[in-house]
Amino acid sequence: MLRQVARRLMSNMPENTVYGGPKPQSPNRRVTVTHLRQKHQRGEPITMVTAYDYPSAVHIDSAGIDVCLVGDSAAMVVHGHDTTLPVSLDQMLVHCRAVARGASRPLLVGDLPFGSYESSPSQAVDTAVRFLKEGGMDAIKLEGGAPSRITAAKAIVEAGIAVMGHVGLTPQAISVLGGFRPQGKTVTSAVKVVETALALQEAGCFSIVLECVPAPVAAAASSSLQIPTIGIGAGPFCSGQVLVYHDLLGMLQHPHHAKVTPKFCKQFGHVGDAINKALSEYKQEVENRSFPGAAYTPYRISATDVDGFLYELQKMGLNEAATAAAAAAENVETAGRPSKDTC
Ligand code: KIV
Repeated sequence: MLRQVARRLMSNMPENTVYGGPKPQSPNRRVTVTHLRQKHQRGEPITMVTAYDYPSAVHIDSAGIDVCLVGDSAAMVVHGHDTTLPVSLDQMLVHCRAVARGASRPLLVGDLPFGSYESSPSQAVDTAVRFLKEGGMDAIKLEGGAPSRITAAKAIVEAGIAVMGHVGLTPQAISVLGGFRPQGKTVTSAVKVVETALALQEAGCFSIVLECVPAPVAAAASSSLQIPTIGIGAGPFCSGQVLVYHDLLGMLQHPHHAKVTPKFCKQFGHVGDAINKALSEYKQEVENRSFPGAAYTPYRISATDVDGFLYELQKMGLNEAATAAAAAAENVETAGRPSKDTC
């Protein structure tokens, strides 16, 4: 664990290169399951957001979010699939490692992907261990509450790994649920949500995600559990809330995503619009040659070295290159132009 913390620290250190790194985060303030328990006891809402890569993890860390979930929603928002099913364990571990390098403060939870834990408790433990050892995660999340999942959750906790449960709409079960459908909308289904959450608590889970259930069902589950509930599309009566990074930032505006973005997703930003605007401006400035210009051409070579360089180019028979270099040295603003234009 110490080595893991040290690795996280070191990987955040800016290096003395032309590219700056993020400022070192504060590892001592890293959120633990104990902090979450204390927040829950004080009645303070817990914040959770998904992340899949280094930059999103740095943003989540800087914002002071409590829990960062490397969700299998990566399959949809990062890899462009229609469901969460196709993402593999190896792909998830790549996402986890990138997130672990970027976020040193939040509790890091890795989502066990479909097909990596259902066969047996030992498969579940082996996969969970990989999330900690290879992915740098602090805890894992698994979906569902069938007896085999309860056994798997228990086995993982017994192996020393903190487990977050997930009930209500469990997207990995889309095949049996018949689509991304809200759960708990009938008496039987509502009771099942609460019973499943209680069983997962009994198995040792430290928290439960409640996805797409009516508010009274989430309220009942939150009130009957001793551990915190984290809602998504489950209304305000949960111990905390989670949203998918791209959804909350309004980052994807292509038709496919617009079709599948759930109703409960409030867009707290319009980053997609900002990205589109920035990319169009970049394209325009490159095409009209106003970028990079002198302001973004920072590296200088002395006049003496330019002369020496031109001399060497001519010796090599690269006369056109020498002419281009000479013209660029004279007027750095035209450095990006093809030599034919500048001669
Ligand atoms: O994968 C994910 O993003 C999730 C959240 C929706 C809780 O499981």
